[in-house]
Amino acid sequence: MKKVISVVGARPNFMKVAPIHRAFADYSNTIIHKLVHTGQHYDAKMSDAFFNDLDMPHPAHFLNVGSGTHSEQTGTVMIEFEKICMLEKPDFVIVVGDVNSTLAASITAVKLGIPVAHVEGGLRSGDRSMPEEINRLATDAISNYCFLTEKSAIENLTKENFPKENMFFVGNTMIDSQFYALPKCDFSKVLEKNNLSPKDFVLITTHRPSNVDDPVQLEMLLKVFDYISQYRKVVFPIHPRTLKNIEKFNLQKYIKNNNIIFLEPQGYIDFLQLMRNSDFVLTDSGGIQEETTAIKIPCLTLRTTTERPITIEIGSNKLIFPEYNNIIKAIDDMLNNNRRESQIPELWDGRAAERITSIINKILNK
Ligand code: UD1
Repeated sequence: MKKVISVVGARPNFMKVAPIHRAFADYSNTIIHKLVHTGQHYDAKMSDAFFNDLDMPHPAHFLNVGSGTHSEQTGTVMIEFEKICMLEKPDFVIVVGDVNSTLAASITAVKLGIPVAHVEGGLRSGDRSMPEEINRLATDAISNYCFLTEKSAIENLTKENFPKENMFFVGNTMIDSQFYALPKCDFSKVLEKNNLSPKDFVLITTHRPSNVDDPVQLEMLLKVFDYISQYRKVVFPIHPRTLKNIEKFNLQKYIKNNNIIFLEPQGYIDFLQLMRNSDFVLTDSGGIQEETTAIKIPCLTLRTTTERPITIEIGSNKLIFPEYNNIIKAIDDMLNNNRRESQIPELWDGRAAERITSIINKILNK
């Protein structure tokens, strides 16, 4: 038997790994697949809710790393994950996405001589002030294999001299999860609970440090949300980072607006139900750019760059420089129904995890 460990840490990792875990069941005679959760996200609403919604088993190991500075978080994952690698002696480690846990686990495994595959490798925003960009660059540079979600990743990795034979364009496991979960959304009560009807609201999320760690920028965004609420219902599930900063910067008056429905972080199914029924989405998330593209919901991304260019080239996403007048103009366009047709990117067909596990099986049994 061969042993494969997949590492998850933060909210956007769970939906990327769940379909991989399911797909390994086809190889259960030859491969044991185990999950390790670093604990980077630990609140029930940021973590447990996703394991339930995605039918993921409890992780074999929970590292309880929690929050901290980037170095504290990355360093603690390395120390704790090394102990797990010594104990479990995996033949292969899978890391996903671009969070601190991704980078930490890849360094640890590679230094122990364990082959590492990065799922969602090769994405580049070109903006090195984003912590995720550093995580992407460093993880890809040391990974043995990269599984790619879109063609831009092939170009990026080729420029960085990543060996061609070790990169595999397989599609997007985050979209696998979405396909898996969509039928379950019919059972969600989130619209009724919040008195919402399909298409009568705008869905907002924001948590990027560049948008929420600066008081002036955060206040500007809260004013934008106020503006939208004059015309449409607004639903705003607040990320813990954003909520902490609203309190820290004394901006609570903005969350007393009765026209905005402020919610705690939502579970996967309820959030998907909100997304697919929203008129449009305003976000600074990475994954939501892809999820809206996959179900053709218009998305305005409040960032200067994106590492997921396919979502703006053919998808339903539009990049909006996050400055007040600029955002208002884009919102007015949306409200005036000035929208374009979009397409679904190649291989975003719900079967990426099957391709990944089939390739890993071949690698392990070479
Ligand atoms: C992390 C990822 C980011 C991803 C995001 C999704 C990095 C560098 N960033 O950012 O790429 O888009 O997750 O959510 O890895 N907190 C809680 N409860 C939790 C987790 C966090 O209250 O369960 C609070 C803590 O105050 C913490 C803050 O949120 O300090 C930020 O958490 P952290 O894991 O540092 O980064 P995120 O902003 O969540």
